[in-house]
Amino acid sequence: MLRPRYTLLTALFALLPLGTAGAQNVDSLLAAMTLEEKLGQLNLLSAGGNASPEQTVLVRRGLVGGLFNVLGTENTRAVDRVATTESRLKIPLLFGLDVIHGFRTIFPIPLAEAGAFDPELAEATARAAGREAAAAGINWTFAPMVDIARDPRWGRIAEGSGEDPYLASLLAAARVRGFQESILATAKHFAAYGAAEAGRDYNTADVSQRTLREVYLPPFKAAVDAGAATLMSAFNDIGGVPASGNAWLTDTVLRREWGFRGMVVSDWTSIAELIPHGVAASRAEAGRRALTAGVDMDMESRIYVDSLPALVRANRISLAVVDRAVRRVLRAKARMAQLRPVAPNAVEIRALARRAARESIVLLKNEGGLLPLAPAVPAIAVIGPLADNRLDPLGPWHTDGRPEDVVTVLQGIKSRVSSGTQVLYAQGAGIEDTSTAGFADAVAAARGAKVAILVLGERHDMSGEAASRSSLGLPGVQQQLLEAVAATGTPVVLVLMNGRPLILEWAVEHVPAIVEAWFLGVESGNATADVLFGDVDPSGRLPVTFPRALGQIPLYYNHRNTGRPPAAEKYTSKYIDVPVTPRYPFGYGLSYTTFAYRDLKLGAARIGPRDTLTVSVTVTNTGTREGTEVVQLYVRDEVASVARPVRELKGFRRVTLKPGEARTVELRLAARDLAFYGLDMRPVVEPGTFRVFVGSNSAEGLEATFTLAGPP
Ligand code: NOJ
Repeated sequence: MLRPRYTLLTALFALLPLGTAGAQNVDSLLAAMTLEEKLGQLNLLSAGGNASPEQTVLVRRGLVGGLFNVLGTENTRAVDRVATTESRLKIPLLFGLDVIHGFRTIFPIPLAEAGAFDPELAEATARAAGREAAAAGINWTFAPMVDIARDPRWGRIAEGSGEDPYLASLLAAARVRGFQESILATAKHFAAYGAAEAGRDYNTADVSQRTLREVYLPPFKAAVDAGAATLMSAFNDIGGVPASGNAWLTDTVLRREWGFRGMVVSDWTSIAELIPHGVAASRAEAGRRALTAGVDMDMESRIYVDSLPALVRANRISLAVVDRAVRRVLRAKARMAQLRPVAPNAVEIRALARRAARESIVLLKNEGGLLPLAPAVPAIAVIGPLADNRLDPLGPWHTDGRPEDVVTVLQGIKSRVSSGTQVLYAQGAGIEDTSTAGFADAVAAARGAKVAILVLGERHDMSGEAASRSSLGLPGVQQQLLEAVAATGTPVVLVLMNGRPLILEWAVEHVPAIVEAWFLGVESGNATADVLFGDVDPSGRLPVTFPRALGQIPLYYNHRNTGRPPAAEKYTSKYIDVPVTPRYPFGYGLSYTTFAYRDLKLGAARIGPRDTLTVSVTVTNTGTREGTEVVQLYVRDEVASVARPVRELKGFRRVTLKPGEARTVELRLAARDLAFYGLDMRPVVEPGTFRVFVGSNSAEGLEATFTLAGPP
């Protein structure tokens, strides 16, 4: 038996993650390890709150590289002590957790936060979550989720940044930077998990190479470039090749093309699932395929640790492949050991939660300027299953978040209205109730009030993992509740809490004001009241398209044109029973003021392949209140060797303007931002004419064109 070599271990923690010296230290440690210990480093187990006695024994024997779902500093410390003092090589453990949108302080779900169009905000919330998690002994988060989602039936749309690769890439990088101040980040789920057919979770994805590279992969590339320590391989297959056994993805693209030096962890039992996928006949075969493909750590399958020793000894998998993975895990640990977590500041983090929640709210409709409400309104009805609900605003991943920390909409409103205002509350119905017994109270409350705020939507676990829906209306009898309250004639403000786009046709036709409040976390109620009473201008914009009908899905703004674009003629690409346009397009959201765009100017009519074009536009606040606009820049390549999207977001800027104030906003567009994958599937910037759109969402804007010249 080799004795632990203190010098090796101290060297491991001192090493620079990517330096040559570091590599040598990892090699020395590797040389001291038995085959079982090596495979043990690749074994990642879920602890269910605390390490079980069996897991503790495995840790002591050096057969576990990391644990996740260990909660509480004491529990993490105790089992880490076993690893670092009682195991032969004393290698510390990775402690993973799904710190997705907050740890103790729960922030808006990532989809909501994406609507703030504010990477600095996303970085700040990730940083805060990382600090809180690190203080509880966590050193690794399974976030950010950077999957592009074009199908709102897929419940995990809530966990990502929506449908746009440009916005999602900026947010991916921002979140990686934020988390990695204190804990390691994981960009997941590599790749195309969001392309699950029919929006059914874990389902097969069949995406073209071009769409994969242009739409689904860029946020991963951005995360890698931002220094993400780890990536997680996805559950799904892409065109028949499961992502957790796909050498092209996890080796060719990720490591060879992108130069990723970090570690890849599988998703939960996704290695064992190569068997039901039908690409491996046994656990050993599944393990061999995954490890060879470049999936370094095995989450929960226990295949690497159980089945691979025999395979290595039988020369059916080379030791070099094992060593490669172990090296990556040890390097991640060395990097973890170098983190210097910053202590969280509870007051600052709570204030950040309120800012994030405010910025995420999207005003969808505001007929007749019903909003903002006057705080002195004599009586206000607050109705609905989500109005005084402390659990659901926490969203699908609430980690260490607690319902008692949540300020509900009812509480937020009560603390905002004038002392003379009567607040009449009625639940009306539960989220999925079939009973209408509570309607009478709700109707009575609405009748007794000047305005009725209806807080309706989904349960927190109706989105997230394994929460695909085949209908996107309001669950239970909430639609009937809405109609019953609207029938009183009292003006209705519909506040929605949900983890995905919903189909809202009746409300859009009959309800004067609609506020998309998603799941906003602990400050839900205060932030919603801030917007309802006009203390803050709603500045969120939709990071995802809202369809009119389920049958339009998938519906996303950056689609390609067909040879028969929708038109009045019969034989064009459309439906006979619903308009082809969305209900609310990507980038859409109202403010309490109005903005006018003028003087769109391009710095040049013609640019070269290495140039950057300056795009400027003057935005004026034409209303009577201060407001925040998200100025959006889209581009269309008019003619190319392959059909290009009708529009692609290439830039945006949040601007806050006082009434009457005008500002010239300058955005920059580099010729290389116009690259795409050509006929030969290589990145190319083709000369030609490009159309630029600048405006408040993906369906409108001022237009101009410029020419990109070929190389001289
Ligand atoms: C399965 C999910 O797909 C993944 O996102 C998560 O990180 C793991 N479970 C661990 O909880």
